[in-house]
Amino acid sequence: MAYHQKNQANSLSAGLYPVADKTLRAAAVFWFLTAVIGQWIFVYYLVVHYGGTAVQGDWAAWSQGGPQGMIPGDTLGNVSMAMHILLAIIVMFGGPLQLIPKIRSRFPTFHRWNGRTFILGAVAGSVFGLYMIWTRGSVGAPIQHIGTSLDGILIMVFAVIAVRFAVARNIVRHRRWALRLFMAVSAVWFFRIGLMAWIILNGGPVGFDPETFTGPFLIFLSFGQYLVPLAILELYLRTQDSAGAAGRFTMAGFLLLATLVMGVGIFGATMGMWLPRM
Ligand code: HEM
Repeated sequence: MAYHQKNQANSLSAGLYPVADKTLRAAAVFWFLTAVIGQWIFVYYLVVHYGGTAVQGDWAAWSQGGPQGMIPGDTLGNVSMAMHILLAIIVMFGGPLQLIPKIRSRFPTFHRWNGRTFILGAVAGSVFGLYMIWTRGSVGAPIQHIGTSLDGILIMVFAVIAVRFAVARNIVRHRRWALRLFMAVSAVWFFRIGLMAWIILNGGPVGFDPETFTGPFLIFLSFGQYLVPLAILELYLRTQDSAGAAGRFTMAGFLLLATLVMGVGIFGATMGMWLPRM
């Protein structure tokens, strides 16, 4: 390219940069709002289904969320299950509030306490989850349990790193690790909406056996539930750091596509999994 043509292209891209940057921000906000709505529908289901049936003493209904639920005689397992659900409600309700800049700047004390609750809740919830999956088992094959267990370990590792950067007042790195933690904590939710989006987009269960809940797609999903969102987050952070106008537009388009797929999954999980149990 001749020197003046190159210069022209550069100044065109520099001129488009503010628009591209705004588009990327708008796409990220749209993704976030869709995720919050979807997570809070899940929270609402947990409160109504688990809370409602517990108040009525209908513990048998708890096994609808997984094969185990409340097992007579297994006190430690039952306490783990109840704590796991309670912490899931707290963490999935409060987590998104941590990511809203206005709340962070206007209510720093709330951010600090909600952050502590989120981190402790996520770590304790993972410990209870790990205990349940390896003592009581769950649906699917051992490799799927290993996938979910790795999420529990990542949650603990990310939590420690996010806290260390917060204590060191390294806010840039704290934000990044807190975002990674948010993705890892959201993995169980991504699993459910990912599964429902896959079933809807394929017009039925493809790549797994719905009876045994095993198969290649579910093996992929048990790792992909956190690896895919973490990879998309990494791409987003790198784009934010160093991409020009074209890179920002591309990432915005990609985020929009991811949001649409997420929307299909949220719709599917709400109609197919959560509403029928409420
Ligand atoms: C902090 C992130 C986590 C959250 C928010 C969470 C949330 C939940 C929720 C809401 C349920 C009820 C299922 C439903 O009604 O759809 C559940 C069940 C369960 N979770 Fe978690 N979970 C998390 C991490 C984990 C981890 C790391 C493990 C294991 C390694 C795990 C193992 C289980 C097991 C065994 C069940 C019982 C249901 C079944 O048998 O499949 N969870 N979890």
